[in-house]
Amino acid sequence: MTAFPEKRILLIIGGGIAAYKTLELIRRLRERGIFVRVVMTEAAKKFVTKLSVESLTGSEVFDELFALTGDSGMGHIELSRDADLLVAAPATADLLAKMAQGLAGDLASTLLLATDKKILAAPAMNVRMWLHPATQRSVALLQKDGVIFVGPESGDMACGEYGLGRMSEPAGILTAIEHLLSGDMRLPLPGDLSDESAGPGSLKGRRVVITSGPTHEPIDPVRYIANRSSGKQGHAIAAAAAAAGANVVLISGPVSLADPFGVKTIHVETAQEMLTQVEAALPADIFIGVAAVADWRVAETSLAKIKKHPEETPALTLVENPDILAAIGRRSKDRPALVVGFAAESEKLQENAQAKLIAKNCDMIVANDVTEAGVLGGESNKVSLLTKQGKENLPLMTKQKVAARLIEKIAGMLGGNGQ
Ligand code: PMT
Repeated sequence: MTAFPEKRILLIIGGGIAAYKTLELIRRLRERGIFVRVVMTEAAKKFVTKLSVESLTGSEVFDELFALTGDSGMGHIELSRDADLLVAAPATADLLAKMAQGLAGDLASTLLLATDKKILAAPAMNVRMWLHPATQRSVALLQKDGVIFVGPESGDMACGEYGLGRMSEPAGILTAIEHLLSGDMRLPLPGDLSDESAGPGSLKGRRVVITSGPTHEPIDPVRYIANRSSGKQGHAIAAAAAAAGANVVLISGPVSLADPFGVKTIHVETAQEMLTQVEAALPADIFIGVAAVADWRVAETSLAKIKKHPEETPALTLVENPDILAAIGRRSKDRPALVVGFAAESEKLQENAQAKLIAKNCDMIVANDVTEAGVLGGESNKVSLLTKQGKENLPLMTKQKVAARLIEKIAGMLGGNGQ
C-alpha cells in the first residue's frame, strides 16, 4: 500500500445512493495517510449523515455556502486551494450539469468552479439519466475542460434497472486517485484525441475495444461453467493502450481486479452479453480479444437450483457460444482495421494459433502457451505474435511487458513505428 502522508483531498459527496460507497473510499484514503476534507450537498445528507463522515475523516464536514469564515472572507476559495485534488463521488447528473455550466449556487458547485486543481469525477446515476443527451453533453464538456472520469460501470442498480451508471467501486476510484496524486501517469484526456501529432508507438486518437477475463455460463441460480482466466493480461493490455493515448473500451467478464484507470470498463457475465457489448462498442480501429470466452453454455439454464437425486446424476446439454473474435474478424461492415486474437493452447501451439489466425480472419494472433506454470491466473505470460507476415517469439515476461510490446507492435502495424 502506497502512503501519501502529505496529500490533501477535497471530497465532494453528491446526493445519490452510491454515497454509502464513498464512506469506504474515505476509510481507504485515510489508511494511506491522506487528509480528506468533505463537502456534502443537501441531497447527499439524505443518504449518509454528516456524523458518519465526520467520524471517518476526523474533521468537520462543510455544507453551507455562506457559513465559511476564512481570514480573507473567501472561505470557499481557501477550501479548494488547500487541496491537491478535488474528487466528486458520487458525481450525480445534477452536479455534472452544474459543473459543465459553471453554476455556483451551493457550496459544492462553488468549490468545483473556484479551483485550478485537477478534478476527478465518479459518476453515479440511473442508466437513462447517464445515457440522456443532456448528461452526455455535460460529460463531453467537462472532459474537454480537463475533468477526469472514473466509471460509471454497468450492473444492477438500486432502482431495479440494469445498465451503465453504477459508481465505480472504492478500489477503482482509489487507483485513479493514487495515479493522480503520484503524477506518474499521462492522463488520457479525450481533449488530447483531436491532436493528430501522434508520437512513436502511440495510439493517440485510436479507439480500441478489448475483451478480458473469463465468462460465466449459468447452470442454475447458484452454479456456472467458468475457467481460470483472471483478466490480468486483458486488463494490462487495456491499461497499456490507454497509456499510449487510445480511447479504450474494456469489456470484462467477472474478475476481481479494479477497472484500469482511464479506461471505460463494461462488466458482463456471459459470452452472449460480451458479444452484445463488443458490437455496441463498435466502430473501433482495433479489436483485441483476450477473454477466455466459454466455448459452450448450458442449453437450458434451470430457474431453480438443481437438486441431488440418489439414483440420478443430471446430464447437462451444452450448446456452442457465439465466437466473438470470429464475428468481429469476419464483419463486412465496421470491421476494425486491426483484429487481434489470442490462442490459448496446450499443444501444437504454432500450428493451432496459425489455424485460428486464418479461420477467424485476424490480422494478428497472440499464441499463448498455457502449459507454462502461472500463465492462467498468474503474473507472467509466454507468447508469440503471429501475423500473416511472420512471427515474433517473446520470452517469459510479466503480463505488463507483454501488453507493452503488443501495443507497440499494433501501433507499428497501424502506421507508427514499433514494428
Ligand atoms: O486472464 P489471465 O489469467 O491473465 O490469462 C490470460 C489468458 C491466458 C486467458 C490470455 O492470455 C489468453 O490466452 N486468452 C485467450 C483465451 C482463449 O479463450 O483462447 P482460445 O484459443 O480458446 O480462443 C481463441 C480466441 O477466440 C481468443 O481471442 C478468444 O478471446 C476468442 N474466442 C473464443 C471463443 C469464443 N466463443 N469467442 C471468442 O471470441
